[in-house]
Amino acid sequence: MSVVAVVPAAGSGQRLGAALPKAFVPVGGVPILVRAVDGLLCSGVVDRVVVAVPADQVDAARSLLAGRPVMVVAGGSDRTDSVRNALHAIDGASGGERVHGGERAGTHAGDAHTDDTPGADHIVLVHDAARPLAPPELTAAVVAAVRSGRHAVVPVLPLADTVKQVDGAGRVHGTVDRSVLRAVQTPQGFTRALLDRAYAAAGPTATDDAGLVEALGEPVHTVPGHASAFKVTTPWDLELAEMLLARTPGAGT
Ligand code: C5P
Repeated sequence: MSVVAVVPAAGSGQRLGAALPKAFVPVGGVPILVRAVDGLLCSGVVDRVVVAVPADQVDAARSLLAGRPVMVVAGGSDRTDSVRNALHAIDGASGGERVHGGERAGTHAGDAHTDDTPGADHIVLVHDAARPLAPPELTAAVVAAVRSGRHAVVPVLPLADTVKQVDGAGRVHGTVDRSVLRAVQTPQGFTRALLDRAYAAAGPTATDDAGLVEALGEPVHTVPGHASAFKVTTPWDLELAEMLLARTPGAGT
């Protein structure tokens, strides 16, 4: 089974407060999106990547990702739409173009069913561009779990903080038992058939892909997550990523 990674990268990144869309903000001198894609490819278990970026950033993303087995498509107004556009592009349905050494290969809707179009039984990973430091080993572990027969797999971490339920006025209504809670990361892995069913039934409000599978009543399995797979959301997260890269030899440009 071939493995295709879908990377939603079409968010504006308002909470980051940067001049650029979040995926294009550099961390350690390299755009967040490029780090996320290279991390996936470095795992050695990903055959192709489809990236969804803001419509006005498609050409910029193609240049940044030149030379990699990557297709770039325009994202949508929410994350679910962006992933859906990328899923369509895997089959050539949305006219995405593949990047070859900086040139567009011209795989339009009509001719994208080429030799490397994966079969319907492939594995799909969905990975937030906003997690540029997710270790390649995490990607490999998720793919291994899907290959072992799990149709939906998510990396999770236990919660360190106590969790309270709070109303709109800031009043606490209870303490949640954190021992049964997990924070969920990406990459999340799925068999293509299950993810297609989940997206066919999807509403607009899902914050992750496994949630759509859960809504079908299908099981979702977990593997241990990794602290480095944190999501860059705020300026503090960006600073943390910069600090982590600064202490890793050869991690910059
Ligand atoms: O906003 P948040 O950080 O939760 O977004 C998670 C991921 O979804 C990010 O990588 C972001 O670029 C992506 N996204 C997207 N299309 C949108 C909104 C978010 O691809 N319309």
